[in-house]
Amino acid sequence: MIADIVVDLQYGDCGKGKIAHALCRENKYTHVIRYNGGCNAGHTIYHNGKKFVTHHIPCGVFFGIKSIIGPGCVVHVDTFLKEIQELEAEGIPARKLVHVATNAHLITDFHRAEDGKDETIGTTKRGNGPAYRDKYGRKGVRAMDDPRLQPYIISMYHELYENEDYNDIEILFEGAQGFGLDVDWGDYPYVTSSHCTVGSALLNGVPPRAIREVWGVAKIYETYVGAKDFEGPDEVFEDIRRVGQEYGATTGRPRQINWLDFDLLKMAARINGINKLVVNKMDVLDAIGKWHAYHGPHILHFDSREDMEFWIETKLEMEVSENIETFFSGDKEHI
Ligand code: IMP
Ligand code: MG
Repeated sequence: MIADIVVDLQYGDCGKGKIAHALCRENKYTHVIRYNGGCNAGHTIYHNGKKFVTHHIPCGVFFGIKSIIGPGCVVHVDTFLKEIQELEAEGIPARKLVHVATNAHLITDFHRAEDGKDETIGTTKRGNGPAYRDKYGRKGVRAMDDPRLQPYIISMYHELYENEDYNDIEILFEGAQGFGLDVDWGDYPYVTSSHCTVGSALLNGVPPRAIREVWGVAKIYETYVGAKDFEGPDEVFEDIRRVGQEYGATTGRPRQINWLDFDLLKMAARINGINKLVVNKMDVLDAIGKWHAYHGPHILHFDSREDMEFWIETKLEMEVSENIETFFSGDKEHI
């Protein structure tokens, strides 16, 4: 069994969907598995020139690959079924390809209503926190117990270990949210209620030695949506928001902007053990013409895109690992 993992190194919205989409094109995956989160996520994917925003469903569905919502996820059934319908309407055979693990948990309408009252964390109000609370409090309901999900349910154990349809299983794990929102490593309590690191992917039933590549995804500047103050004082952030279209894919909220925090990037790179790094949205700072990053208490000023790229790459090589291959990418650039 082989597994590649895509993991976000900042606060979500770094372009995991784009990377996962590119990887599906280049590899022979048998499965794409979403490993954490619920419909709080919004993955923007451009497929054959068309824009799709998915919340639950992994991107393997665009390539005819079996796509599973794993046991680490929580599912809101109506949202899930609506997404299936929308994809089917666009000619994508989601009904055939998409599956939900028996032991994923449900987000109920009660969870949603409760989360809808949140004012302190700035959640997406999709019921994520209450659903995970009930799962860990042993009061949750598993996906296998909802009759509406019956046609989609599969056992991860059978699928990965006792399925004669596959000689070699090759998985792409697609995460949701990001390191800065991880319930343990993020800025608690301004976090989501699931784990957003590589460890989280393994909890979905795959042995650690199956891991081949770990693709860390970041942006050249940072964004965050939620209740805490995050945006820096630079007036250029308003322009970055506009040029980078930094509005939530799920809620439409304006994302707060700040310069890249190198220390966070380094920590996320170390803890996730990445060996590939994609830094997205280079085109946005190209357009703005400013290149900055935080390093400890300092703001670094770079003269050009090339200078900033060189600094990040060298620093990660020196302080994290020589084996990280870094790609800098803009909207129209391919990795
Ligand atoms: P929740 O996951 O809806 O409980 O929200 C907790 C925090 O995570 C809030 O700050 C949300 O804005 C943030 N969040 C949750 N999902 C995403 C996402 O997919 N992208 C960016 N931020 C997210
Ligand atoms: Mg997103």
